[in-house]
Amino acid sequence: PPHLSIKNQHLMIDGCDTVELAFKYGTPLYVTDETRIRDNYRGYVSALSDHYPHIRVLYAAKANGNLNIIKILAQEGAGADVFSSGELHMALLAGMKPEHLLFNGSSKTEADHRLAVEKGVRVSLDSLDELAQLDRIAGEAGKVVEVSFRVNPAIDVPTHPKIATGLATSKFGIPAAEITDAYAAALACKNVVPVGIHCHIGSQILDVEPFAKEAQVMMEVVEELHRMGVRFKFVDLGGGLGVAYDHFGPDAPTFASYANAVMPVCTSVLRRLGIQPEIWIEPGRSMVCDSTVLLTKVNSVKKAHKTFVNVDAGFNLLIRPAMYDSYHEVLVANRADEEPAGTYTVTGPICETGDILAHDRKLPGVVAGDLIAVLDAGAYGYSMASQYNGRGRCAEVLVRKGQAELMRRAETIDDLMANLETPSWLR
Ligand code: LLP
Repeated sequence: PPHLSIKNQHLMIDGCDTVELAFKYGTPLYVTDETRIRDNYRGYVSALSDHYPHIRVLYAAKANGNLNIIKILAQEGAGADVFSSGELHMALLAGMKPEHLLFNGSSKTEADHRLAVEKGVRVSLDSLDELAQLDRIAGEAGKVVEVSFRVNPAIDVPTHPKIATGLATSKFGIPAAEITDAYAAALACKNVVPVGIHCHIGSQILDVEPFAKEAQVMMEVVEELHRMGVRFKFVDLGGGLGVAYDHFGPDAPTFASYANAVMPVCTSVLRRLGIQPEIWIEPGRSMVCDSTVLLTKVNSVKKAHKTFVNVDAGFNLLIRPAMYDSYHEVLVANRADEEPAGTYTVTGPICETGDILAHDRKLPGVVAGDLIAVLDAGAYGYSMASQYNGRGRCAEVLVRKGQAELMRRAETIDDLMANLETPSWLR
């Protein structure tokens, strides 16, 4: 990738030496390249705009929820897919406009709905129950809320089963066959007006075909609903475009090939209907994943059944390998262009056998004190980190053209105790 390079044996990220960063800020450490995120966003915008003028990219804030990241994307003009009141608050705090947000979720609380109503944020509904609740809450506030329903397109998605969401059996969305009933119910509501439609088929999808199929299902539904009297302001195709975690395997689809697969399907139907709603997408991973490396120090090396490289970051900081068996490239950041000298399994410090970041990798001879870089850690890395095993979450650094500054400090022992209350009988 263009933002990563090697200089004097050291892995560099946008002009910053990772070995120096690790020395200055300590490890483990997440390091994020701001420019890469801006480039990814602009890549999407230009690819989509080639097909249709009314497009919007809503960043899926769950992928990396650091307020600074959301701010960078707000500066670029992005909106956000928010999936909780917390994410909604952060998107507004980052400077995003309420009309550029969509409040998603299949299990929203009354408080979530109230917040959306209060802030003027559109809501994507996942059930008729949610419709009734939101209608009531909006009525109580004397407001009218614009909504969409999430459609379940019943598409078989080639990805890890835990992150495929568009299957008929998934908990998300309303089956395409029942969607007209849902919109009829919404049209009959006093305080809710349906203006959009939403879908998200899953994550880490490396083939554009399912997205084209999804767009087709969506546009059939849009056509039917338009004839029913729904006046569309947006059609949200969701996120899910995958990235090539394996740098030596096949490439992921480009933003252009994604746009080429979905946009013509949409624009041909929209042209026929003579309407021009905005087309939205909700990428998370493909916006931020390759922007970030996780730096982790080698505490010890042990030759046993395998050669284990014991590092200071585990599934407390990057759960993806343990949770989805996912692959991340790893390299020795302080000897980045040395030839491989052995096969190593990179293991975290957590007290579980499953705490393995990388299995059986060919690396230069690794010794205690080396610095390992785990690549493509920008999506669902820090955002899924925990304090398991009494470990505070590590710091995050932002880099930009050779400059580096903290964007979150590491948690301390005091932070681990920060929310603690003591029941009276234990005082
Ligand atoms: N929109 C909705 C409604 C979503 O639920 C998601 C992701 C996205 C957009 C963004 O999808 P993306 O472009 O990032 O694929 N933790 C898992 C991924 C979970 C995805 C959850 N929803 C992982 O680390 O692979």
